[in-house]
Formats: sequence, structure tokens, C-alpha cells
Amino acid sequence: MNVLVTGGAGYIGSHTCLELLESGYGVIVIDNLCNSNPKSLERVEKLTGRKIKFYEGDVRDEALLLRIFRENEIGCVIHFAGLKAVGESVAMPWKYYDNNLNSTLVLTKVMNQVGMKNIIFSSSATVYTADNEMPLRETSRTGNCTNPYGWTKYMTEQILSGMSHADKDWSIVLLRYFNPIGAHKSGLIGEDPRGIPNNLMPYITQVAIGRREFLSVYGNDYDTHDGTGVRDYIHVVDLAKGHVAAVKFVTAHTGCEVFNLGTGTGYSVLDMVNAFKKVNDVALPYKIVDRRPGDIATCYADPTKSREVLGWEAQYGLEDMCRDSWNWQSKNPMGYGD
Ligand code: NAD
Ligand code: UD1
Repeated sequence: MNVLVTGGAGYIGSHTCLELLESGYGVIVIDNLCNSNPKSLERVEKLTGRKIKFYEGDVRDEALLLRIFRENEIGCVIHFAGLKAVGESVAMPWKYYDNNLNSTLVLTKVMNQVGMKNIIFSSSATVYTADNEMPLRETSRTGNCTNPYGWTKYMTEQILSGMSHADKDWSIVLLRYFNPIGAHKSGLIGEDPRGIPNNLMPYITQVAIGRREFLSVYGNDYDTHDGTGVRDYIHVVDLAKGHVAAVKFVTAHTGCEVFNLGTGTGYSVLDMVNAFKKVNDVALPYKIVDRRPGDIATCYADPTKSREVLGWEAQYGLEDMCRDSWNWQSKNPMGYGD
């Protein structure tokens, strides 16, 4: 079966293409490369010894999508394509609503037209409200997002679940990712953020490699075991394998199901700093600074539903994530730009 992967050249997309190919699926990618480098796909081909059919273009381009569906027998779509920088979404809300909502609207319009109605969507733990008790279950409260990026995830979930209510032929899986980090063990593919990283792990690896002077730890007065923020970090290869499990599920069911993809374990910023230093034997200067607006103290998943229904569970631990993040960064100090 062929899977159409939108945004497949990106961080999570490239790791998922690799796992799909290794599980025997054919892979077709559409990506406009606005936040990625085609080298990621070349390297996935090299690692798997298999070809990816790549279309460079925008998911909002209806004619191109129609052509892709006509030229290929597609059994399922994984929709990663989207913009993801929280701060930028506050500064440029229209850009985020246009890209993230219109890509889904055009994609599902064309899917409806060609009669292929199996889709997996990249949602985020950011859709959960800040006042939930931990761990977060799929039934925990959602909404009250603090930025346009989060709203696009929330709204897309509403759009897709509404479609499945109206038309029982749709099979939709909404995957709520927690904090993906790490890289494939080869060190050939990994996360390559443009500009100054927003997220913790790429910032840590750039400090360790000498591209940044020190890590700013955003607050040490939270109600957590050491005062710094606690998150559910998940190895990107585990996350990618969760998509393979979701492909099997979405092609065997109809309706709309939500799954958390997390480990169920929370680590603080200082846990991450200390583990990274120990596993990789590198220096990691940091300074405690003010809290980052919009941050919450603690966020971690209850992954029970994914385990019971998808048969998927994260395998990698904190040391693997720290080692593999560093392996990628040290082999590619400037990312794919080397
Ligand atoms: P990424 O930026 O590395 O990958 C996204 C890819 O989509 C990029 O290759 C980009 O070029 C492409 N793209 C964006 N808009 C497009 C468009 N209109 N048409 C075609 N291609 C387009 O990001 P990622 O970390 O791999 O995230 C993948 C998805 O998962 C995104 O939807 C993101 O919001 C979501 N997500 C990511 C995280 C995370 O921490 N990385 C957490 C939760 C959810
Ligand atoms: C952030 C986004 C969230 C998005 C997710 C994945 C915000 C408020 N939230 O989540 O919407 O879904 O990324 O892209 O931006 N930290 C530091 N120093 C740093 C960077 C981070 O101390 O330089 C801390 C943060 O305060 C937090 C933890 O590290 O406690 C993780 O931060 P980050 O990687 O940005 O992820 P989230 O805040 O969980």
C-alpha cells in the first residue's frame, strides 16, 4: 500500500517515511520545503535502499494534489505539513491560519473527490487546556489555546471530527504528540530548526556544539521536583513507529479516534540538562532566567489508549534520546546545511 505523506521532508515526516519504507509501504511525499531540506529524503532513501516519490509543492495547491492522487494508488494520507513555531504564530496569525487550515481543507476536499478517506493528522498536546490534571488522557479538556498555532491544531481536530460525523466513510486518526526529540541512530536524519531554536533539545545540542553560548532555563520556581518545567519527551523514532501503527488502524476502521503519543514519564529541564551532559560527556552551560510566557509547570501523557488500541508503546528512554540527539548534531553541526 502507498502512503501519501504531506510535509514528509520535515523532522517527524522524514523519520516516519523511513519507518514506513522499512515496514514495506510505498511512500509518496508532497512538501514545499518551506522548513526542510530535500537531503532528508535522499538520506532516508540511502538508509532504506528504497525510493520515495517526491512532489515539491504546496498542499494548498488543489490541482497538484489531484494530479498526485491520479498518478498514484494511495491507501492513506499522513498529514504533517504545517507551520509550527509558536512565537511566529503570535506575530503572524494569518500566515498560520492560512497555511495550517487551508492545507487541511484543500487536502480533504481532494480526498473526498477521489474517494480516498483515510487520514492521520499531526495534532499536539498543546490542544489540552492548562487546568487539566496529569496525566493527560484523550478525554481531558481541550481548547483555550494560548496562541494561533495551538488554535490551528484545535480547529483542525474540530474540522476533521465534524467531517467524520457527517460522512461515515471517513477514517480519521488525530495523533496528539507530546515533546518529540532525538534522531535516527544513524545520525543521518534529525531536527534542523531554522534560526534560533524555540524548543529545548535543539537549543541544548546547539549550546553543546558551540553555536550558542548558554541555555536559558525558563524559570526554576515551578511546582515541580526541582522547580523547572516538566515535559513528556518522546524519541522521534518511537513517534514515527506510532504512525505506522496508526496507518494499520486507520485503514481497518472508520470514524474518528484520538491518541496520545507520549511515554507517560515527565522530565524536568534540569533532568534533561544533567542527562545530556552525563550520557554525552559534554559541557552544557546554562543560566536560570524568567519564566517563558505561556509555559505551564507540568505536561505528560497517559499513553494507555495507544497501547491498548494501537498496540504501540514507546521503547526508548531518556539516555537514548540524549545520545541520539547529540549523535545527529555532532555529525551535522550545521544541520543539513553542511
Ligand atoms: P517540520 O517543520 O520539520 O515539518 C513540517 C514540514 O511541512 C516541512 O518539511 C515543511 O516544509 C512542510 N510544509 C509546511 N507547510 C506546507 C505546505 N503548505 N505545503 C507543503 N509542505 C508544507 O515540523 P515537524 O516537527 O516535523 O512537525 C510535523 C507536524 O507535527 C507539524 O504539523 C507540527 O505542527 C506537528 N507537531 C510537531 C511537534 C514538534 O514538537 N515537532 C509537536 C506537536 C505537533
Ligand atoms: C512548545 C510549545 C507548544 C508546542 C511544542 C512542540 C510554547 C509555550 N509551547 O512546547 O505549543 O506544541 O513546543 O513544538 O512555546 N525550555 C527552556 N529553555 C529553552 C527552551 C525550553 O528552559 O531554551 C523549557 C520550557 O520552559 C519547557 C521545556 O523546556 O519547560 C520544554 O520546552 P519546549 O521544548 O519549547 O516545549 P513545550 O514548551 O512543551
